[in-house]
Amino acid sequence: MLLRLVAALVFLAGTRGYFAEERSPEESQMQPPTVVLAIVARNAAHSLPYYLGALERLSYPKERISVWAATDHNVDNTTAVLKEWLTAMQTFYHHVEWRPMEKPTSYPGELGPKHWSNGRYEYVMKLKQAALNFAKRRWADYILYADTDNILSNPETLNLLMAENRSVIAPMLDSPGAYSNYWCGITPQGYYRRTAEYFPTRHRYRLGCFPVPMVHSTMLLDLRKEGTKKLAFHPPHVDYSWPFDDIIVFAFSCRASEVQMYICNKVRYGYVNVPAKPQQTVEDDRINFIHLYLESLVHGPPMHPSRYVHMEPKQTDLMGFDEIYLINLRRRPDRRERMLWSLYEMEINAKVVDAVDGGALNSSDIKILGVDLLPGYYDPFSGRTLTKGEVGCFLSHYYIWKEMVDMQMDKALIFEDDVRFQGNFKRRLLRLMDEVEKVELDWDIIYLGRKQVNPGDEEVVENVRNLVVADYSYWTLSYAISLQGAQKLINAEPLSKMLPVDEFLPIMYDKHPNESYKSHFPNRNLMAYSTRPLLVEPCHYAGDPEWLSDTETSTLWDDDSVRTDWRGSHKTLKGTAPPAGLHSAHRDEL
Ligand SMILES: *[C@@H]1O[C@H](CO)[C@@H](O)[C@H](O)[C@H]1NC(C)=O
Ligand SMILES: *[C@@H]1O[C@H](CO)[C@@H](O)[C@H](O)[C@H]1NC(C)=O
Ligand SMILES: *[C@@H]1O[C@H](CO)[C@@H](O)[C@H](O)[C@H]1NC(C)=O
Ligand SMILES: *[C@@H]1O[C@H](CO)[C@@H](O)[C@H](O)[C@H]1NC(C)=O
Repeated sequence: MLLRLVAALVFLAGTRGYFAEERSPEESQMQPPTVVLAIVARNAAHSLPYYLGALERLSYPKERISVWAATDHNVDNTTAVLKEWLTAMQTFYHHVEWRPMEKPTSYPGELGPKHWSNGRYEYVMKLKQAALNFAKRRWADYILYADTDNILSNPETLNLLMAENRSVIAPMLDSPGAYSNYWCGITPQGYYRRTAEYFPTRHRYRLGCFPVPMVHSTMLLDLRKEGTKKLAFHPPHVDYSWPFDDIIVFAFSCRASEVQMYICNKVRYGYVNVPAKPQQTVEDDRINFIHLYLESLVHGPPMHPSRYVHMEPKQTDLMGFDEIYLINLRRRPDRRERMLWSLYEMEINAKVVDAVDGGALNSSDIKILGVDLLPGYYDPFSGRTLTKGEVGCFLSHYYIWKEMVDMQMDKALIFEDDVRFQGNFKRRLLRLMDEVEKVELDWDIIYLGRKQVNPGDEEVVENVRNLVVADYSYWTLSYAISLQGAQKLINAEPLSKMLPVDEFLPIMYDKHPNESYKSHFPNRNLMAYSTRPLLVEPCHYAGDPEWLSDTETSTLWDDDSVRTDWRGSHKTLKGTAPPAGLHSAHRDEL
C-alpha cells in the first residue's frame, strides 16, 4: 500500500514537471510458497487441542496452506475434536481435505491402541503417501508432516525450516528425556544406532542444521526440489529389505533418491511425547503428555490449546489433603501462573497464599512481628546473617503451619512457586500417601523436594515404596505436613530465634550438625521423611539464564542499608538449586 502511494506521488510529481520521466509502479511483493499440512491422527484426543493450537498459531498466512487430515481406528474422541477444528478452520485455510474413518476401532492382532502392528504400519504409510500425492497434485511447494503428539509451540518453526532451503528437514523436538525425532546413526539392517553425535545435538552443545540418516514424526519436504520427486512412503522401494516401519521406509527412500535428511536444533521449536509402549493405554499416553505440557511451561515455548476446540473444564481435587498451599510472591505473577496452570493440568486444587515480601519489611516491622535472630547464626557459606528474604520465607511457611493448627487441619501440602514436577506426579503422590496410611506411619513432614546435604544412604521405610527417613536437607520446595507436625513447629517458638526455614526443619528432626543451634530448641522430635526419588525439583538453578533470585537485593535483617546477594552461598551454586529463601515474599492475608 505504501509503495503504491509513493509511486502515485512520484507520478503526480512527474505530471507537474518536477521529473523529466514518468515512473512505472513497482512490482508487488511475492506471495509465500504454498504448503500442505498433513495430519494423521489416531487416539490423540488428549494432545489434539495443543497440537492444533500450535498449528493454528504458526506465523504463516493460512490462505497459503491446505490441510489434509485423516483419522481412523480410534477408541477415543479424536474424530470429533479434529472435525470441530477443521470445520472452524475452513474459513481460514486455503483448502481442507478431511478423511475420517469411524470403523473399525482397532487393527487385527493389535495388543492395544498404542501398538504398531504391521497392518497399522502399512495403513499409515498409505495415508502419508496419499497426503504426498495430494500435495503433488495441487502443485504445493511444501508438505509439512507433523504427528499429533508433536507440538510445534514455536510459531516461527515453519518459517525457520523453510529458510534452511533443504529438501527434507526436521526441527529437533524436545522431550523430558533423551528421546527426539531423529537418529544420528543407522545400522546396515536399518535399525537405530547410537552415535557420538546424538547427545551433543540433543543437548544443544552443538547448534545448527545437521545431515542425519533419519528424521521422523515432524518434517518439511520441499516439493520444488528435483530430488523429492521420487520420495515415497508406499509402496516401499523395490530394493527394500529393512524393517517394515513407515519412518524407516521413508528414510530408505531418501537414501535411494540421494536426498539428505537434516535436523535443526538452533532454537526450541516444540515438543514430542515419548511414544507409549505397545501394551500401554491411551491413559498412559495422556499422563506422559501432561508431563510434556508441564515441561513446555518451564522451558518454553509454552503449549497453548486451540481456541477452536472445546475443552471440558477439569475437575480438580485436594488429593486427600485438607488444603494445598501455593506460596507465591505477589510480584512474581509469572511463577504463579505457571504453577497454577501446571496444577490445574494435573487436576490439583491449590490455594495461593501471598508470600511475605521480605524486601518490603524494614527492621522495625521485623521487631514488631516478634522476629529475632538465632544467636550466633551465620550462613555457613557466605558468613552473613539472615536476609530479609529469608525472614519473609520463614514467615510465609510459619503462617501456614499456624493456620493448620488454628483450623485443626489433619494434613496439608505446601508448594513454593519454583517447582518442577516429575512425571506422573499426582498418581505417585496419591499412591505414596495411600501406603503411608495403610502402614499407619506416624509422620510429621514428608519432603517431596529437597537437597540432601550429605549424599549417602538413608533408612528406608518398610512397606512404603519410595520413602526414606530424612537426613540433613536443604530447601522447602514442597512438603506434606501433618497437624501434629505443624503443632510441633509452632510450639518451638521459632520466630524469636529465627534462622532460615530450611535449617530450622532439620534442627527440629534432630539431624542438624550444629549443636549450638540445636540447643535453642529442646524438643527436636519432628518425624521427617522424604520421597525417594524426589517428586519435584527446582525449575531454575542458580546460574541458569532464567534464574532470578527474589532475595538478591534484600538487606540484612537488622540493617536496612546493607545489600546481600544469594550468589555468595554454596546452597545456590549451579548443580544444586536455590535455597528456600529465594521464594520469600509478601503475605497480607493470614
Ligand atoms: C468430543 O469432542 C467434541 C468436540 O470437541 C466435544 O463437543 C465432545 O463433548 C467430546 N466428547 C467427549 C466424550 O469428550
Ligand atoms: C536453495 O537451494 C537451491 C538448490 O537446491 C539453490 O539453487 C537455490 O539458489 C537456493 N536458494 C537460496 C535462496 O539460497
Ligand atoms: C517501616 O515501615 C513501616 C511501614 O511498613 C513504617 O510505618 C515505618 O515507619 C518504617 N520504619 C522505619 C524505621 O523506616
Ligand atoms: C555452629 O555455628 C556457630 C555459629 O555460626 C559456629 O561458631 C560453630 O562453629 C558451628 N559449629 C559447628 C560444629 O559447625
